[in-house]
Amino acid sequence: MAPHSLEPTEEAPSYDINLPYKPTSEKGQLKHAGASKYPQYLPKWEPVFFPPCPEFDFLDPALRADKDKRTLLKDAQIKHISPKMGSELSGVQLSSMSDAAKDELALLVSERKCVVLRDQDFADWGPASQQNFAEYFGKPNYQPVTGSVPGFPAFHIIHRDGNQAEIDKFFEHKLTSTLWHQDVSYERQPPGYVILCILQAPEVGGDTVFASTTEAYNRLSPGFQSMLEDLRATHSSEKMCNFARANGGLCRKDPIRTSHPIVRVHPVTGEKSLFVNGEFIRGIDGWKDPESDILLNFLTDHITKGHDFQVRLSWEPKSVVIFDNRTTCHTATVDYDARSDKDRHMFRLAPMAEVPIPAKK
Ligand code: SIN
Repeated sequence: MAPHSLEPTEEAPSYDINLPYKPTSEKGQLKHAGASKYPQYLPKWEPVFFPPCPEFDFLDPALRADKDKRTLLKDAQIKHISPKMGSELSGVQLSSMSDAAKDELALLVSERKCVVLRDQDFADWGPASQQNFAEYFGKPNYQPVTGSVPGFPAFHIIHRDGNQAEIDKFFEHKLTSTLWHQDVSYERQPPGYVILCILQAPEVGGDTVFASTTEAYNRLSPGFQSMLEDLRATHSSEKMCNFARANGGLCRKDPIRTSHPIVRVHPVTGEKSLFVNGEFIRGIDGWKDPESDILLNFLTDHITKGHDFQVRLSWEPKSVVIFDNRTTCHTATVDYDARSDKDRHMFRLAPMAEVPIPAKK
């Protein structure tokens, strides 16, 4: 089937209010350097350009894990947040995990889709150790347009800079700040286990919401599932890169287009999941635009409205969330008052995993 194609100029701009696309003014940077608890992690745009990521071998660490997770559960306790997805893991520090425990953590994330760890010292390890931890779970991804930590391009910095005027302007045209997506789905080997670490959070608000695309697939009728399993969609970073460039930002990697199956199989659990999102998909391969739009709109509506297969995680200080990007969609919520002096500041490390496995070969 021919990959779906559209000219980049045809697309509407994309804007995630949760992310800065270019440096704030020097005055703003100084304000933040003074106010930030983690100034080293304020977003910087180094003019470093990356070639396309070559194909690489990936063995999911969860495939090595003891199925009963005996190493991890020696000290840790698991509490489920909702029946279909999401667990809280307590009693253990990421910093003290052996490789066996990390394998079992990967298995837990594969099974539960997202795992929150509270009271972690992870934010204080420094970028080299944090990146090293993430590399246990896959190959570093370099995000093309967002700010990073100098010398550590695998860091994707999420930093809402307290500019309420910018948020007010956004809502002049938008009804909601939610932007459901899978991270970096346009890569040939998109991220699997994604790590989010909070550095500073508003007193209340700024939660992240996750939906299980496995359960979203399971809810569909067999005939519909079977029809979807024959389909592929083209994912692309063009819209994001064009938006950044048009607004004075950098794009450090040429835009990528990749065709992925709409239903993918998890390499560890064998579960089937929908691999669709409203942010990076250009269309269903071989389908005309109106046909493609109607199906993709239906699927994204189904995923985002299914509150009975979602969890909403709030960011307490020292929280780390690890989620499976292969079986979830997620969105930030920009619902807080950005006049407060507590910025929303976090980093993401998104190690890349396998080429998505199609449900039908
Ligand atoms: C993301 O959208 O990739 C990060 C999630 C968040 O900002 O809550």
